[in-house]
Amino acid sequence: MHLKDKVILITGGTSGIGEACTELFCRHGAKVVTMSIQQQEGEALAQRLCDEGGTCLFHYGDTSKEADVKAAVDLAVAKFGRLDCVHANAGVLRNQKITDITLDDFHLLINVNLLGPVLVAKHAIPVMERQGKGVICFTTSVAADIGFPAHAVYAASKAGVVAMMRSLTTDHSPQGVRFVGVSPGTIDTPMLAASCEGFSKPKDELYAEVAKKIPVQRMGKPADVANVVGFLFTDEAGFVNGSIVHLEGGTRCLPPW
Ligand SMILES: NC(=O)c1ccc[n+]([C@@H]2O[C@H](COP(=O)([O-])OP(=O)(O)OC[C@H]3O[C@@H](n4cnc5c(N)ncnc54)[C@H](O)[C@@H]3O)[C@@H](O)[C@H]2O)c1
Repeated sequence: MHLKDKVILITGGTSGIGEACTELFCRHGAKVVTMSIQQQEGEALAQRLCDEGGTCLFHYGDTSKEADVKAAVDLAVAKFGRLDCVHANAGVLRNQKITDITLDDFHLLINVNLLGPVLVAKHAIPVMERQGKGVICFTTSVAADIGFPAHAVYAASKAGVVAMMRSLTTDHSPQGVRFVGVSPGTIDTPMLAASCEGFSKPKDELYAEVAKKIPVQRMGKPADVANVVGFLFTDEAGFVNGSIVHLEGGTRCLPPW
């Protein structure tokens, strides 16, 4: 994976999918700024990767706040002189039917899952256009494509990111910026574990049942996503633009019975 010396910013980079991306890109020689609202975990992760010989900075910041996102982009440019790739990955999940949703949960879902990627794009694109080159990858979700029970607003927030990504290609790809997305299905992360709370069965039993329904007979791992994002960030993926890679083990191919 040719990521050596690429400067990469990852939001939501200290847990689950983002943590796997931070680790993988560092181990492939990238210079990584990893951002989240997990101060302790972020500092520990950056320290561990630096101890292993990698280059990783942790930036504490909330992606729904414009000043925090701008500060993360500015940090990458100030420390490393450029910004080659951004993975807009931070996200939150809330499950309830729309008849039960509170406006606080609505605003949280939209602010983190949709406004966050908007702010990332707003501040990273000018840097990339000045360089004449850059890639932004968005983490969306299978929920953007299918009816996802009790996740209507989450699904809408992710579908919004997909629609935005396509429009960004028309506005900014002529200036050298590529836009891609990864759409995970069921990935074993702390977010997924938290979503099992409130069920009558233990998590492991629920996971085994879910795995059996997926054509590849297993759930996804954070590394499954990181490997694909890493490839999308390479120059070898230079003709992939405005596309979403679905990472769901074939779930969307299942017949409706
Ligand atoms: N796990 C799955 O099955 C799955 C499936 C589809 C899509 N996704 C998406 O993948 C992405 C990563 O999810 P995950 O499963 O690794 O979850 P996770 O909870 O393990 O990690 C989420 C990360 O986002 C960060 N974050 C949350 N709110 C933030 C904010 N306001 N500002 C900055 N950082 C913030 C957290 O600190 C954490 O580092 C999310 O966008 C999620 O919606 C996950």
